[in-house]
Amino acid sequence: MPYISPALNVMSAAARKAGRGLIRDFGELENLQVSLKGPADFVSTADERTERILIEELSRARPGYGFLGEEGGAREGPDKTHRFIVDPIDGTTNFLHGIPIFAISIALEREGQLVSAVVYNPVVDEMYLAEKGHGAYLNNKRLRVAARKSLAESLFATGAPFMGRPGHARFLAEIKAVMGRSSGIRRCGAASLDLAGVASGRFDGFWERGLNQWDMAAGILLVREAGGIVTDLEGGPRALDAGQVLAANESLHPQLLKLLTEAGDEG
Ligand code: IPD
Repeated sequence: MPYISPALNVMSAAARKAGRGLIRDFGELENLQVSLKGPADFVSTADERTERILIEELSRARPGYGFLGEEGGAREGPDKTHRFIVDPIDGTTNFLHGIPIFAISIALEREGQLVSAVVYNPVVDEMYLAEKGHGAYLNNKRLRVAARKSLAESLFATGAPFMGRPGHARFLAEIKAVMGRSSGIRRCGAASLDLAGVASGRFDGFWERGLNQWDMAAGILLVREAGGIVTDLEGGPRALDAGQVLAANESLHPQLLKLLTEAGDEG
């Protein structure tokens, strides 16, 4: 059984509650009021309502903690040492297109360190949990990153920059390099689930640029607690602040980093 701290318990309960509403919304997609926030950046009423539920539930249990949320931005609490980082729907574009690959992502930071994480896909009822120093779990089953060591047998996940985002040429160079050396590449559309996929060994690695902290905070802790390595795309420790991530096991991380760096130099 996973070790579930009181905070992680509160976070997973909040995700389950918000998830029930999201499932209803997903079933009634045609009735959703969708508003356009910017190019390829849709925000639905479901997104806003889900964040509201999460904040209500989390702040009822931990009234002093701060928040960083996709919809509400940053809110400081009287307790400056704790902050929840919340993405109510990671994979919003999938959600709006009726593709059941999206998740609620909640991380808890204590004094700047990620300490607890929840990534929950309510459609398939997959609840990923991690607690710093206590491992990562999927529905109570302990997770380990994949053991594969060679690029040739590896399946990688990534995220493609879309309209209005920079880095298209570099991304094409990276994809070309990785597809020539690996078993395949997937672009699933929810970074939190891509990272959860690395933690569970479904994917051998994941990289993406241009992410927000709420897309990846919980997933980063999942990978680390499943024994994987997470860095930025220069191999440094600043993934969250730099908005870019490279996650894989110990053997594949340096190989993928080298491949992507060389692709970038040429691209
Ligand atoms: C998005 C997803 C997607 C990634 C985008 C993110 P959102 O998050 O994680 O996989 O490629 O960069 O913005 O907007 O659905 O929360």
